[in-house]
Amino acid sequence: MTVGTPIERIWPAPVTGALTDPQLTALYGRTAGPHLRVNFVASADGAVTLDGYSAGLSGEPDKRVFGLLRMLCDGLVVAAGTLRHEGYRAVRLSPERRAWRREQGLAEFPTLVVVSGSLDLDPAQAAFADAPVRPIVLTHADAVPPPGLADVADVIRCGTDQADAPGRVDLVAGLAELRRRGLGQLLCEGGPHLFG
Ligand SMILES: NC(=O)c1ccc[n+]([C@@H]2O[C@H](COP(=O)([O-])OP(=O)(O)OC[C@H]3O[C@@H](n4cnc5c(N)ncnc54)[C@H](OP(=O)(O)O)[C@@H]3O)[C@@H](O)[C@H]2O)c1
Repeated sequence: MTVGTPIERIWPAPVTGALTDPQLTALYGRTAGPHLRVNFVASADGAVTLDGYSAGLSGEPDKRVFGLLRMLCDGLVVAAGTLRHEGYRAVRLSPERRAWRREQGLAEFPTLVVVSGSLDLDPAQAAFADAPVRPIVLTHADAVPPPGLADVADVIRCGTDQADAPGRVDLVAGLAELRRRGLGQLLCEGGPHLFG
C-alpha cells in the first residue's frame, strides 16, 4: 500500500505510477558483498539544515526512504556531531520491518555505529542507553572514553598514526573492522564532515 506523496521511478528509465514499499525495498535492496550507502538530504542551494536541523529539509517521501534504508542495513553509521546535535535516540523499527529482517535472516535491528575522535559522548543518551543492540564507537588510539561509555558500547580504536591527522579515525580500517564483525551492509546518515 502506498500512502501520501507518491514516489515514482525516474532513472534509468522513467516508470509512471507510485512505487509500493515492497517495490522500493527491491529497488534499493541488499547487495551480495560489502556495501556502503549514504543517505542525505540537501536543499537545491546546498543547505544541509533548516533552522539548524535536517528535519526541516526532509519531506514525507524522504522520511519513507530514511526508514526503509534503516530496515535494509546491518550497521547504521553516524558521526558524533550529528548524534549529539540531532539528539539521536535508540534505533527503532516497526514490527513489520523487524519481521522482514527476521525473514531475511538478519538481526532484528541494525547496529548503531558512531564515529568520534573526541569521545565527547554521553552514555546516558538514548542512542546508547536504550539501544536494542549494543552500539559500536569507532575512535582512535589515544581517545579517552568518558565514564560509562564502555558499559553501553564497544569502543573500537582504528586511529591513524599520521602526524598530519591527529585524533582522526582511519575510516578505511573502521569499515574493515565492521565487516569483520558481520556488518557488511552499511548505511551512513552523515553528517557533512563524515561524508567529506
Ligand atoms: N541534511 C542531512 O541529511 C543531515 C544529515 C546529518 C546531519 N545533518 C546536520 O549536520 C550538522 C552536524 O554536522 P557536523 O558538522 O557536526 O558534522 P558530522 O559529520 O555530523 O560530525 C562531525 C564529528 O564527527 C566525528 N568525525 C567525523 N569524521 C571523523 C573522523 N574521520 N575521525 C574522527 N572523528 C570524526 C567528529 O566527532 P568528535 O567531535 O566527537 O571528535 C567530528 O567532530 C547538524 O546540523 C545536522 O543537523 C544534516
